[in-house]
Amino acid sequence: MTDIKLDYTNVLAGQVGKKHGLTLEQITELSPAARDIHKGLQAKRKSGALPFYDLPYDKESTTAIVKASRSLRKKFSTMVVLGIGGSALGTMALFSALRRSQHNSLTVTKREGMRLYVADNIDPDHFAELLSTIKIKETVFNVISKSGATAETMSQFMIVANLLKKKIGKTWKRHIIFTTDPESGVLREISKKEKIKTFEVPPGVGGRFTVFTPVSLLPAACAGIDIRKLLNGAATMAERTNEPDLMKNPAYLFSAIHYLLDTKKGKKITVMMPYSSGLYLIADWFRQMWAESLGKRTGDDGAQIFVGQTPVKALGATDQHSQVQLYVEGPFDKVVVFLDVANFATKTDIPKGFADSPAVSYLGGRTLNELMAVEKEGTEYALTVNNRPNMTIKLPEISPETVGQILYLLQVATAFSGGLYKINAFDQPGVEFGKQYAYAMMDREGFEDQKAEFAGKQPKERSVV
Ligand code: PA5
Repeated sequence: MTDIKLDYTNVLAGQVGKKHGLTLEQITELSPAARDIHKGLQAKRKSGALPFYDLPYDKESTTAIVKASRSLRKKFSTMVVLGIGGSALGTMALFSALRRSQHNSLTVTKREGMRLYVADNIDPDHFAELLSTIKIKETVFNVISKSGATAETMSQFMIVANLLKKKIGKTWKRHIIFTTDPESGVLREISKKEKIKTFEVPPGVGGRFTVFTPVSLLPAACAGIDIRKLLNGAATMAERTNEPDLMKNPAYLFSAIHYLLDTKKGKKITVMMPYSSGLYLIADWFRQMWAESLGKRTGDDGAQIFVGQTPVKALGATDQHSQVQLYVEGPFDKVVVFLDVANFATKTDIPKGFADSPAVSYLGGRTLNELMAVEKEGTEYALTVNNRPNMTIKLPEISPETVGQILYLLQVATAFSGGLYKINAFDQPGVEFGKQYAYAMMDREGFEDQKAEFAGKQPKERSVV
């Protein structure tokens, strides 16, 4: 197994100066707190309150998922996931990192797995377009909702059920599977009533922590991703992050550095910038993880504290031509986290040519791989000499094992950050509000009072030009 590494050289004061960087002493001062937080998290883990920690070891569930994916792959060429937020982002991150960029356009032999679409948004144009493009008879729809009630996903389900009834007739239900809570929620009720094949979101695993559950593992396996290798990678990181010593635990260090930069150096924004198009959606997944987990009004003691760094995503080298100007010269309010790949699967040569134009010909005989590495080094250098703290998660390659490691690391870092900020990293009251609003305004039974309240608070007049 090739380990990923966290290089935090460039957050240190020696590199970016005392005003914006951290001394090793400042970091190690957090060690006693880290040990206490570690103890608290491990105690909760042992009591079963944090089941996300042990998902990589659930061999029984993995075997069942692999088996189900084999059967689905025999029957269907395409899976469409209907789900949003935590029910979509992990799947999108895995699919984009671990399948070829043109996977859905490849022939069945070349793509080695089902086509996979994730319809996370309810944009009416996009959804209609997707449904009119795929071959319905060859498609299975995986309706994923932990709560089994989210308005976006339920409305998509209703549209799809209606379409299947029209196009497939009596056997329409064979084209639907559900992934939801084992007991509660409307989706579970419908699954029982309609006898629809249903996978479980393990109890106690919140939406954004579900990447190693059937929520993402089933679509990933259907698309041909080796989920056993992915979970092996996660398990390796589980061992590494079981370490109480802050300075030896990459997840705790990632978290502690962010916490100190936020609270002591005013870095209110964290930019995740993969130098790899495939890893871009890991930055998307991380945005939800960091934002929903750590953006909180209330502390553990009930006081209003309004904490949370704003996670932003950027793509190298693309955003060197869009965002990096701001990161290098704008406000000193950011820390940048690069994701760096040592060995891409493909080596792409730049052919020699245009000898009369030295401003181009110097590139001939080199590779896109070299250029990508130099571009990343350049951004890292520019940030560092301009006193902008940055760190790099180094992946030896993009593989199920390394992706498993990074996703696990970031989940543990998030849980640990909850301890540093003294907040609950596992709830999302702000998200729930949006859900309630949609239920009320779309006239869901039982939400009449909320509707009256929300309607009463609308502005009497709008200011529009
Ligand atoms: O992380 C979360 O809890 C949310 O982002 C949910 O995943 C999202 O709101 C979708 O919820 P559900 O899976 O219940 O439909």
